[in-house]
Amino acid sequence: MFDGVAARYDLTNTVLSFGQDRSWRRATRAALGLRPGERVLDVGAGTGVSTEELAHSGAYAVGADLSLGMLYAGKRTRPSVPLLAGDALRLPFADASFDAVTISFALRNVNDTAAALAELARVTRPGGRLVVCEFSTPVNPAFRTVYLSYLMRSLPAVARAVSSNPDAYVYLAESIRAWPDQAALAARIGAAGWGRVAWRNLTGGVVALHRAVRN
Ligand SMILES: C[S@@+](CC[C@H](N)C(=O)[O-])C[C@H]1O[C@@H](n2cnc3c(N)ncnc32)[C@H](O)[C@@H]1O
Repeated sequence: MFDGVAARYDLTNTVLSFGQDRSWRRATRAALGLRPGERVLDVGAGTGVSTEELAHSGAYAVGADLSLGMLYAGKRTRPSVPLLAGDALRLPFADASFDAVTISFALRNVNDTAAALAELARVTRPGGRLVVCEFSTPVNPAFRTVYLSYLMRSLPAVARAVSSNPDAYVYLAESIRAWPDQAALAARIGAAGWGRVAWRNLTGGVVALHRAVRN
């Protein structure tokens, strides 16, 4: 599916999120608290748009993704960003290789959330940090109703105009609706080898940033 949306992925993202995606990526970088010289892994990096933002911190940022189509699109648009083929469930890295790991808008797409969180813990050094940036549940009930209506009705219609594979955006809407809320995701992270789990809502809870530290 991601091979099919790769060509216009970055543009579609920015249109569907009304440009909010840029501030969500900046917030993800800030939440990681990266220092120059640290090593950070961006899992489900896709075209490298999330990886590129991390590099602004001065850390060495590398992206890994399962979709060769997304990786090739990233290589064309961001030739200087290091991107590797790799499965979140079986990462091609030794234990404790990274100071920090992150996954943006991708954990929801991995088949086994618990196994992916445990695999992220495996490649992170003890004391290292995790930030999960993912769609979540808006906290205000009135805003939640408007948002869900946008998600289920307007978003697929807009995607038909801009995306190279509109059906993928029907999946996007459905997968966001089925995803655990902030507290439920925090519990899953805590059960997978991570401590000090906390979260912060962005755009009223449309997106949540979950932070944790490797036990
Ligand atoms: C919505 S994109 C997110 C891309 C980027 N992180 C961003 O912030 O825009 C989700 C990505 O997750 C990747 N993905 C899905 N399952 C995966 C897995 N098991 N291992 C690695 N990447 C995976 C897809 O190929 C896709 O590129």
